[in-house]
Amino acid sequence: MSGAGSRALVTGGAVRLGREIALSLARSGVDVCIHYGASADAARQTLAEIREYGVQAIAVQGDFREPVSATEQVFRAVAEEFGPIDVLINNAAIFESGSLAETDESAWDRHLDINLKAPFFMTRQFAAQLPVEQSGAVVNIIDWRASRPVPGHAAYTIAKGGLLTMTRLLACELAPRIRVNGVSPGAILPPPGSDEAYLEALADQIPMERTGSPSDITDAVMFLLRSGFLTGEVVHVTGGEHL
Ligand SMILES: NC(=O)c1ccc[n+]([C@@H]2O[C@H](COP(=O)([O-])OP(=O)(O)OC[C@H]3O[C@@H](n4cnc5c(N)ncnc54)[C@H](OP(=O)(O)O)[C@@H]3O)[C@@H](O)[C@H]2O)c1
Repeated sequence: MSGAGSRALVTGGAVRLGREIALSLARSGVDVCIHYGASADAARQTLAEIREYGVQAIAVQGDFREPVSATEQVFRAVAEEFGPIDVLINNAAIFESGSLAETDESAWDRHLDINLKAPFFMTRQFAAQLPVEQSGAVVNIIDWRASRPVPGHAAYTIAKGGLLTMTRLLACELAPRIRVNGVSPGAILPPPGSDEAYLEALADQIPMERTGSPSDITDAVMFLLRSGFLTGEVVHVTGGEHL
């Protein structure tokens, strides 16, 4: 046991950063449930890789465009197939550009549902299923834009701002049994559909003059999980971009 928990659920755990977090947990001996939305094939592949570390793993589908019913469905499956979890990583999100003028109701609802309402109801379900004698930890994957908002991704940034506030609020409400922390990534992976040129163009604006790697994020997640006196904290993994 690594001190990072014993059984974790990672939302959006089939691909990209979620997958890296799931694999890091598995490497530390933690059993992992990956939640996925549309990436069923990738989820199967990630499950196989997780099991190579000798831990238990399952995958559970849930569409966070219907956050309340999806989170109920996910935790029902987790309870039936896996048992109680003591670590929740709220990672799944969408990232679409749009100014105030460009953001219509459906873009607003999509971002608020997937990026904020789903983590809220996932945390509610998580707290309810954790046996009273057990302690647990939640890590929310936020974004530096929540701390230093810049125009261009209005609905996304507002939803992540809510997730930052939620991290601090629920850290108070769920203490001492459950710690709630956040990781705010900077430029780590190009958004789906973009290539490395997207990241290269950003490097000039970053004090560290480079972008980060998925291991920078997984290191921060594992640090927060292992740090038993940290709660309500948000670690910016940005090379200084949030400053
Ligand atoms: N990439 C970066 O450099 C960066 C920078 C700042 C912040 N972040 C944050 O870090 C986290 C991971 O980033 P990423 O780039 O790895 O994200 P990503 O590639 O866009 O992946 C997002 C995940 O969210 C899930 N998802 C999207 N819509 C969903 C829906 N309707 N229902 C259920 N799941 C849904 C996807 O699952 P399926 O594929 O299974 O549908 C996917 O696993 C996000 O919270 C993001 O905001 C990332």
